[in-house]
Amino acid sequence: MPSKAISAGDDPGTIAVIGAGSVGATIAYAVMLRGVATQIVLVDLNQAKAEGEAKDLEHGRRFVPSVRIRAGGLEACAGSQIIVITAGAKQHPGQSRLELALVNVEMFRDMIPKLAEIAPDAILLVVSNPVDVLTCAATRWHPHGDRRVFGSGTVLDSSRFTSLIAERIGVSVANVHAHIVGEHGESELPLWSSAHVGNISLSHFKVPGGKGLTRADRDEIITKVRSAAAEIIAAKGATNWAIGLAAARILEAIRRDENAVLTVSRVLHDYNGISDVALSVPCLVNAHGVGEPLDIRLSSDELEGLTHSASVLQNACRAAGL
Ligand SMILES: NC(=O)c1ccc[n+]([C@@H]2O[C@H](COP(=O)([O-])OP(=O)(O)OC[C@H]3O[C@@H](n4cnc5c(N)ncnc54)[C@H](O)[C@@H]3O)[C@@H](O)[C@H]2O)c1
Repeated sequence: MPSKAISAGDDPGTIAVIGAGSVGATIAYAVMLRGVATQIVLVDLNQAKAEGEAKDLEHGRRFVPSVRIRAGGLEACAGSQIIVITAGAKQHPGQSRLELALVNVEMFRDMIPKLAEIAPDAILLVVSNPVDVLTCAATRWHPHGDRRVFGSGTVLDSSRFTSLIAERIGVSVANVHAHIVGEHGESELPLWSSAHVGNISLSHFKVPGGKGLTRADRDEIITKVRSAAAEIIAAKGATNWAIGLAAARILEAIRRDENAVLTVSRVLHDYNGISDVALSVPCLVNAHGVGEPLDIRLSSDELEGLTHSASVLQNACRAAGL
């Protein structure tokens, strides 16, 4: 029997997740494990699916920090501090993220104004793809979009990037600080010039007796980062685990008001000459949402790559009617 619609009420630790598919359910699971929310609300067009996932997660409450999990309709997002959107069509093998744009933009056109009315103070974290195009759409259709709406962007890609660098040079991934910026997709680019390992510039770093990264290593790493999602989708139909953890990390930065530096996607205003398009650059994330992007030094190649990525996304937005 479908449960009656519930509202997040006044619980300040409520995170609503719209879309209880593989990504939404995994984000809820990661949020539970990390103790990021006191209440999680799952919303899906397929109400039975949302209820099934909520029940399954709820049965694990004994083993994680205190949390309640509920399913409900869109109105159940009322009172949420954060709403994560994972709803919509997903990539099929061989399909690019940008090909999803038309379908998911139309879904956002209907959903975002409703969410702004139901939960006017909530921060909206966009995860559905193409995340940059949808972040642009949601920012435009939300009255406080500029500050409260942002996308998971290249937080996941930066994790893939640092993990591959760490593996190649033989250090802990926790000591590698390096960003992937631009589109969450084909035109994304690595910022090699600012990459550091344990406070040492990556270009000078090598473990004793080891070797630093060669040009060929770098090329191979970025190729692997760019093709990671397609490879996993070809193998198992979807990606969910790492995006679940990446989204939980972003949510933690909001909930704990961390001012964490994360490569989230937001609409830029004259950032290195780029305006009116959402893409990922390092930004501060805190309880108010997303701050202005950080001013990072880019090499001329990196600036050219970022400008190219912005123009790819501007074209995608235009093609999607934005
Ligand atoms: N940003 C990232 O890094 C990243 C990573 C992986 C996947 N994704 C994206 O996340 C999205 C979800 O992927 P998935 O694998 O979970 O897909 P999925 O098909 O498993 O789940 C999507 C869910 O959305 C629901 N849905 C569709 N329209 C809805 C609506 N209007 N309201 C409420 N629910 C609705 C569907 O019923 C389904 O349960 C896709 O767009 C995918 O490309 C993004």
